[in-house]
Amino acid sequence: MSERLRGKVALVTGGGMGIGRAICEAYAREGAAVGVFDLKTEIADDVARTICDAGGRAMPIVGNAAKRTDIFAAADALKAEFGPVTLLVNNAMYNRYGPLEAQDEKTIGLMIDVGFKGVIWGYQAVIPQMREAGGGAIVNIASPSAVIAMKDGIMYSAIKAAVAAATRSGAAEFGPDNIRVTAIAPGPTQTDGAMRVVTEDGWERRRERIPIRRLGKPSDMADAAVFLASEEASFITGDMLFVDGGITYAFS
Ligand SMILES: NC(=O)c1ccc[n+]([C@@H]2O[C@H](COP(=O)([O-])OP(=O)(O)OC[C@H]3O[C@@H](n4cnc5c(N)ncnc54)[C@H](O)[C@@H]3O)[C@@H](O)[C@H]2O)c1
Repeated sequence: MSERLRGKVALVTGGGMGIGRAICEAYAREGAAVGVFDLKTEIADDVARTICDAGGRAMPIVGNAAKRTDIFAAADALKAEFGPVTLLVNNAMYNRYGPLEAQDEKTIGLMIDVGFKGVIWGYQAVIPQMREAGGGAIVNIASPSAVIAMKDGIMYSAIKAAVAAATRSGAAEFGPDNIRVTAIAPGPTQTDGAMRVVTEDGWERRRERIPIRRLGKPSDMADAAVFLASEEASFITGDMLFVDGGITYAFS
């Protein structure tokens, strides 16, 4: 087994399910100690237990990515247990698709609080620890909709575009401290959350539009997140990597 993240300490928001869970497990397999940060106790516990049972190091952390104090507390708890945080994956998102006119203020506020402010709280919580450790890497989970239009997804795409902007500008601001900031734009990926809102027909339509002709798996995103966090990506920062089977730029 390779240990590309040996000695790293990672905080993964929304680590209890889907893409976040796959990233937690992949980071642990690569030698990182992982803070599984999620809203839900049972699933954060389950991921951390699975990692520890396999011989890895992990800690469940219950919290809300929208709350600055929760993210700061998570970074502090990880530092106390494993040492300064050197990897951050901003993955948590709250999303409701639908015509903009039908979206109420509370829904829009929640989407911005989790999907955008959560990223900013993450930066603020870990940057001092990364500086102390001599560097680090941040991977933001964005979306192809950051750069292409999405019907019924005005808020979602605008938030993900803001995340892409915070990736580029974060790279400029934190680069001199040896902290890289990158993003992943996942194509349609069969996660627990996405399975709840996309029908069988919907998946089939997506599959047909993907040049590679298969849907994304959480492990596709985890593989990319390991690469971006690793030394192999040491000269990559500010970029958004499309892990999408080619769908974003395919015109069909
Ligand atoms: N699945 C896809 O097709 C797809 C495509 C593009 C982008 N993405 C992005 O990938 C990320 C993960 O998506 P997913 O499909 O794996 O989601 P998911 O719903 O399967 O899992 C999300 C996890 O985040 C946790 N979570 C939600 N809100 C939280 C909060 N406020 N604080 C802490 N934890 C919270 C949930 O409890 C859950 O464990 C999101 O940012 C999403 O926008 C997903």
